[in-house]
Amino acid sequence: MSNQISAIRDSFSGRFAVVAAVAGSAVGLGNIWRFPYLVGQNGGGAFLLIYLLCVAVIGIPVMTSEFIIGRSAQLNPYGAFKKLAPGKPWCLIGIMGVAAAFMILAFYTTVAGWTLEYFYQSLTGNLMGKTDTELTGMFDDFLSSSFRPVLWFVIFMCFTAYIIISGVKKGIEKYTKIMMPFLFLLLIVLCIRSLTLPGGKAGLHFLFHPDFSKITPKIILEALGQSFFSLSVGMGTLITYGSYIKKDENLLASAGYITLADALVAVLAGIAIFPAVFALGGSPASGTGLTYIVLPGIFDKMPMGSVFSVVFFLLLSIAALTSTISVLEVIVAYLVEELKMSRKKATVAASLSVSVLGVITVLSFGVFGNISILDRNLFSFLEFLTSNIMLPVGGLFIVMFIGWFYSRDLTNDELTSGGLLKGSLIPVFIFIVKFVAPVAIAFVFLYSLGIIR
Ligand code: PFF
Repeated sequence: MSNQISAIRDSFSGRFAVVAAVAGSAVGLGNIWRFPYLVGQNGGGAFLLIYLLCVAVIGIPVMTSEFIIGRSAQLNPYGAFKKLAPGKPWCLIGIMGVAAAFMILAFYTTVAGWTLEYFYQSLTGNLMGKTDTELTGMFDDFLSSSFRPVLWFVIFMCFTAYIIISGVKKGIEKYTKIMMPFLFLLLIVLCIRSLTLPGGKAGLHFLFHPDFSKITPKIILEALGQSFFSLSVGMGTLITYGSYIKKDENLLASAGYITLADALVAVLAGIAIFPAVFALGGSPASGTGLTYIVLPGIFDKMPMGSVFSVVFFLLLSIAALTSTISVLEVIVAYLVEELKMSRKKATVAASLSVSVLGVITVLSFGVFGNISILDRNLFSFLEFLTSNIMLPVGGLFIVMFIGWFYSRDLTNDELTSGGLLKGSLIPVFIFIVKFVAPVAIAFVFLYSLGIIR
């Protein structure tokens, strides 16, 4: 195993370190950019309700299953399945995970680049004093231009590659541990400001009052996909991270805490955004730009808003970075352990090839806007294919592997840390991974494809 892996393993020194590292992967643009825009487009409270259901019933068991696989195999996802199920096709899940990581990085880094642009615009004071219409125009102009979004993409990709090459140094872990709680606090401040804007209450109503008539097959699939995306599950990221967890850590409890923290950040982002959308006269369904249009409007109405704005977009960029490194790590761990590349070569090769797809993705709002796959531009196609199809399919096979294939004794052993822990929840966990989660995922697929009604 490479030095990098032992470097990461060293740093997972206790419960807090495990939770912080996995939460670093889970909490990111998925919570603060993607969740609010999907809630806005998919009927508000009804989406939130289904999302939370998916997180609790499917997300926690998939996350725990990934931890079990990773910790018992001590390998990357592909290698882990090959070791635990030799000669069987389960390792294809690992290959699908690498492919998903490749595509997710392309569109995720695109949005991370937007965040850097908004960090820069905050620094120069350009976001202040603008109306909602002006902020919308500014976002659209930026998105459709060719140079700046590509530049920010490349810069962000370089940061990610640099960290992966040089190892997740103690310093970075230390900073994220301080900065993530800070991001959390800042979100709470934003929530308070947003809620106290005149007319903001309508946003809370939109977020928390489910209108059941709005539930459609499409919304259910979107909520399922978002729960996987937000928790970083379904593609083996947490198999890789699971291999760095110490044997005496309680896997189920860790999965529970991480899931709770992740869902909380998403809900806080919703509470920060929707009251402001209604108070400032925007449309909740305005799509991928929602966060970047609404948040500057809130900062503008805060004392020291320009300072908050700089800090917020900086923290959001860092939250995105702790997620992109976990995605790139999936590809790099595979290339290093399976194709025997050096860590540096693997990182450069992976980053360069992601960048080719990424630059086309960035430009799919501009010069490549005419490329359309299944009626979507490349960005939205990659987002749909990975979150709504590949991650749930990966998750389906991961829970089935633990529920139906993997040795019950070894599973018990992982969940009780070799008999140290009580494991009273194990029967519930087994029931869910055997029956509930696979049936629920399969149902959502068949229902959203129109095969069952
Ligand atoms: N969970 C991350 C977020 O919500 O921003 C995105 C992500 C990271 C997805 C890692 C998938 C993954 F493997």
